[in-house]
Amino acid sequence: MQLSTYFLETFGCQMNVLDSQLVEGQLRALGLRRVAIPREADLILFNTCSVRQHAEDKVLSRLGQLKHIKRDRPHTIIGLLGCMAERLREGLFELNPHLDLICGPGELDRLPELLGRVDESGKPIAAITGLQTRRLVPAERSLLDDPLETLDLSRRPLPGDSIMQSYVRVQRGCDKFCTYCVVPYTRGAERSRPPGNIVREVQTLADAGCREVTLLGQTVNSYAYREGQTPMRFADLLRLVHEVPDIDRIRFVTSYPADWDDDIFRVMRDHPRICPYLHIPAQSGSDRILKAMKRNYTADSYLRLMDTARQYVPDIALAGDFIVGFTGETDEDFAATVDLVRRVEYKQIFVFKYSPRPGTAADRSLADDIPQDVKARRNNELLAVQTAIMERQKRALVGRTVEVLVEGYSKAARRAQKDAADSNGSLDPENPTTSPLDDVAASKANQLIGRTPQDIITVFPGDAAHVGALVAVRVTDASALTLFGEIESVVSPAKMPANPGT
Ligand code: SAH
Ligand code: SF4
Ligand code: F3S
Repeated sequence: MQLSTYFLETFGCQMNVLDSQLVEGQLRALGLRRVAIPREADLILFNTCSVRQHAEDKVLSRLGQLKHIKRDRPHTIIGLLGCMAERLREGLFELNPHLDLICGPGELDRLPELLGRVDESGKPIAAITGLQTRRLVPAERSLLDDPLETLDLSRRPLPGDSIMQSYVRVQRGCDKFCTYCVVPYTRGAERSRPPGNIVREVQTLADAGCREVTLLGQTVNSYAYREGQTPMRFADLLRLVHEVPDIDRIRFVTSYPADWDDDIFRVMRDHPRICPYLHIPAQSGSDRILKAMKRNYTADSYLRLMDTARQYVPDIALAGDFIVGFTGETDEDFAATVDLVRRVEYKQIFVFKYSPRPGTAADRSLADDIPQDVKARRNNELLAVQTAIMERQKRALVGRTVEVLVEGYSKAARRAQKDAADSNGSLDPENPTTSPLDDVAASKANQLIGRTPQDIITVFPGDAAHVGALVAVRVTDASALTLFGEIESVVSPAKMPANPGT
C-alpha cells in the first residue's frame, strides 16, 4: 500500500524537536504529506520522552486512543519513536497490539527502510540501539561515516518551513549518569559531532534565512572533538560558529556546572552575536543531595561559577532546572535549594518533582520516599520564590530599550484574527477601526511576540512586515514572565532567503 499522509506529534526536549524535523524531511522525501489530525493519516508517529513517568503516561494514553483508528482503518501504520521506544522496547507491543513500529533515537536514519518493511510484511518491527551496538563508538573514532551524521546533514529547509530559529546538534548522548536520569540509557554514550559538519549545517540554515541557532547537547561544555593533534573544545566551536555570516544570534543548551572552562565566558564576552544566556541546571542547593545525584559539584562551587559568569558577562541571564523531592530530601535540604535560588536570581527556572526511572542508579538503590504532597508543596514554594524575583527583574526593565527578534503574532493575536475571520469580517491589523472587533480584541490582533538576547518574551504591537526582523522595543510594562512595549525602530529588517530549498 502506498503511504501518502502522516501525523507526527513530538514530546520531550529540544533534541526531540530536532529529530522530528529530520524525520519530517525523510517522510517528505518519500512523498508523504503532513496532516493535522491522526484520523486522516496513513502513518501516525509519536516522538516520545522518558525523562519522567508523566511524559510516558501521556504518550501511552494517546497511543490507547488510536486503537479505534486501527480498527476502522487497519492499513494505518502506528509508530513510537524516541527515548520511550528505546527504553521500553518490544515490551510495548505486548500492551499495545495496534503498534506497528518502535524506533529508538539512535536508529532514526533507518526509518524509511523500517517503514517499507512494516508496510510490506504487515508485521511489527523494533529498531533499538541497546547498549553494545554500532552506535556506541568511542569518542575518538571518526563520525564521518556515522549514518546519524548523514541524517543530521540531510536537512534541506523548504520555503514555508519556519527556520528563522533553528536547532543544531553538537553532541549526542550523555556520559554523566546523574543517578536520577534516564537519558544516558536512551540516547547512549556522549559523542561530539565533527566541527566541520556543524558549521556546514549552520551555513545551510543561514543561507535559507535562519537568524538564530541554538546549539544542542545534554552537556554542551563537555564538547570535545579531536582531529589530528589539536583537540577542539566547546569554546573553540563557539568561535567557529560565530564566523558564519548572517547568523544574528547564537545560543547553546544545556550547560553542565562541573568541568567548566572559563574560556567559554571569554568567548561569550568577546563575540557579540553569542547571546548572554546560560541554561545551567543546579538541580539542588544541598550538597548532600547533589552528592546523591552524582552531580560532581557543590552548592558553593556552583554559586562561585554563577558569580564568574556575571563578572565576564554582566548582563547574562541565567536559567536552571531543579528537582524537588529527590530521595531523602529533608526540609533542610529543600531550604538550601530555596536559598540558592534566592542567591542566583535566575531569569527563569524549571522545577520538576522527582520521578524514579527504572534502571537508573537512584531507582536501584534508593527509595522514592518523599510523599507526592510534599513534592507538590516544595514545587510550588520554589516557583513562588522565583516569581517574586522575576517580577522584580522585569520591573527594572521598564523604560529601557531591548532588542527583539520578532517571531510572529502572539497567540492572543492569532485567536483575535481567527475570531474576526470566523465572524466573516476582514481584519486589517493596519487599520483596526475597520474591523468588526471591539477595541480590546483589535488591539490584540496586531500583537507581535519575540525574544530578547536574554530570552525574555516581549509583546508589542506591529505588523506582518516586522515578523523576522530585529527591532528595538521600548519597554512600557512588565509581568513576571513577559515584557510589554512599543517598537522604537527596526534594527534589521526581515530576511529574504537567498536561495530557498538548496
Ligand atoms: N542534560 C540536561 C537536562 C536533561 S533532562 C542537564 O543535565 O541539565 C532535563 C531536566 O529534567 C533535568 O535538568 C532535570 O531537572 C529533570 N529530570 C531529569 N530526570 C528526572 C527525574 N527522574 N525526575 C524528575 N526530573 C528529572
Ligand atoms: Fe541526565 Fe545528568 Fe546527562 Fe543531564 S547530565 S542528561 S541530567 S545524566
Ligand atoms: Fe526526554 Fe529523551 Fe529528551 S528522555 S528529555 S526526549 S533526551
